[in-house]
Amino acid sequence: MSERQRVLSGMRPTGPLHLGHLVGALKNWVELQERYDCFFMVADWHALMSEYEHPSEIAENSRQMVYDWLAAGIDPRRSNVCIFRQSDIQEHLELYMVLSIIAPLGWVERVPTYKEQLREVKGRDLATYGFLGYPVLQAADILLYKADTVPVGEDQIPHLELTREIVRRFKFLYSADIFPEPKPLLTQEAKLLGLDGRKMSKSYDNFIALSESPDEIRKKAQKMFTDPKRIKMTDPGHPETCNVCHYWQVFAPQEAPKMWEECRTSKRGCTQNKQELAELLIGKTERYRQVREEARMRGVTAGVTGDADKILADGATRARAIAKDTMTEVRKAIKLPLSIRYA
Ligand code: TRP
Repeated sequence: MSERQRVLSGMRPTGPLHLGHLVGALKNWVELQERYDCFFMVADWHALMSEYEHPSEIAENSRQMVYDWLAAGIDPRRSNVCIFRQSDIQEHLELYMVLSIIAPLGWVERVPTYKEQLREVKGRDLATYGFLGYPVLQAADILLYKADTVPVGEDQIPHLELTREIVRRFKFLYSADIFPEPKPLLTQEAKLLGLDGRKMSKSYDNFIALSESPDEIRKKAQKMFTDPKRIKMTDPGHPETCNVCHYWQVFAPQEAPKMWEECRTSKRGCTQNKQELAELLIGKTERYRQVREEARMRGVTAGVTGDADKILADGATRARAIAKDTMTEVRKAIKLPLSIRYA
């Protein structure tokens, strides 16, 4: 990696990535590759924190996530891009331990996402010792690679703030200037609501996955809610309050004004809007199905499981080298002996 600024970000492999991820984080990540050294991490330990009762899908979700990243345009063949899986690099846990030791309990308990999740997430018992440490592990993820910049959504800002506070405390306690204070880079999210008009979320099952089949996309688009005030096709539509029209604006910004006008003037109906939206989305997600098919074909001919494992293995080699150097510095600062692994 070069002298460029470093970006680290991660996603939790708790389920398939969907259109919301595409217009939010992924688009942003793809652009960051042009200007930064980038570490894109599959946060499988973080996923396990909420899925520990049913962990069986995390490994496969992780591989599928890699395919979605590739299809979106993340390119691990570039020398400045590293895709890796958190659990492959043991140093995450080691730094997490160090940070846990110095993070005052009050700071961790104050993180608003913690209480919010305990309240909101149904069907899972998140009142565990580990889950309280979620943002501390996230701090370790970021600091291990000395990332300057962390692209995140609004909800993650408190985690970044905690990370910065931990950096200052580490510096103060050990007079060691190892970690830069990471800055958040806010993802400008084109807000995409779920198919039913609620927040798009895995638990509401109201999303279209990036890997969804064309038939499934047609079915899901057909069920989308439109303008509730428009009952007959001859009623004038109100595109500004219609979720289908909003999708049009996000995915076909050039064509949307004409379509909106035709909707307002009753020249086109909701069914047509949904049908055409489905075809539009099938086009937008084509690459995601194709990447899987290509990987499957390569795997079949080569007798291997496909490329995701190879990409993660290569990424781990590169990430590990950096993680090890950082932990050597940390162990020296906290006067822990350099074990055989670090000597
Ligand atoms: N908490 C992040 C999320 O849910 C995922 C994540 C884990 C992450 N470690 C990270 C994001 C480090 C940025 C940096 O979206």
